[in-house]
Amino acid sequence: MTRQCYVVAIDGPSGTGKSSTAKEIARRLGIDYLDTGAMYRALSLKASRAGIAASDAVGLGELARTLDLLFPQPGQVLLDGEDVSKEIRTPEISARVSTDCAHASVREVLVDRQRRYAQGRSCALDGRDVGTVVFPDAKFKFYVDCDPRVRAKRRVAELSSMGVVADFDEVLANLVERDRLDSTRAVGPLRRAGDAIVVDTSHLTFHEQVERILSVVRSGI
Ligand code: DC
Repeated sequence: MTRQCYVVAIDGPSGTGKSSTAKEIARRLGIDYLDTGAMYRALSLKASRAGIAASDAVGLGELARTLDLLFPQPGQVLLDGEDVSKEIRTPEISARVSTDCAHASVREVLVDRQRRYAQGRSCALDGRDVGTVVFPDAKFKFYVDCDPRVRAKRRVAELSSMGVVADFDEVLANLVERDRLDSTRAVGPLRRAGDAIVVDTSHLTFHEQVERILSVVRSGI
């Protein structure tokens, strides 16, 4: 008997741990994983290198169409054959990506690529609009939320473990501003799909949040 392909859509604000969760879920289920945020980040990196402004909707849309992107393994991003997995996560890219990705010219191209990626395979995707726009008919939809202060605390600890000293208030302000930009844009804003299951991770460990999502998916496949 062949099993039907299915999509696990995991959306939510920045810093809720949804990428790590989606990656782990995909690994445990033996399905593919796509970090849709990494696609927008790779576009921002290429735009930054090419001197294309974050306000240039036409230039960014053209760039999106020619973006040579590969995801050889979870967490790895190849842009024009170059491993940019780390470069796409620098503060410079984080600072412009929310503006770059708000253009309809960019979103229509990358949303189309996300839909093509999922053709004929089961996969978990994390992002902001996966359950609302990219796959409104996804079999499994989750909205991962978390108190902004908890997210900021976790981010400061994560940076500290990498030897980077970060100011809590600054990190918090940055998270809140990105949430605002992502949820107020006209195209594909961050919002919970009406049929998404909300997972609030404020008081959950990573293991608990993974198990909560896995149990829903396992009981549905
Ligand atoms: O998840 P992330 O922080 O790596 O996402 C980077 C940016 O891309 C963030 O500003 C939100 C945006 N994004 C989006 O608009 N739609 C998605 N499906 C995924 C990410």
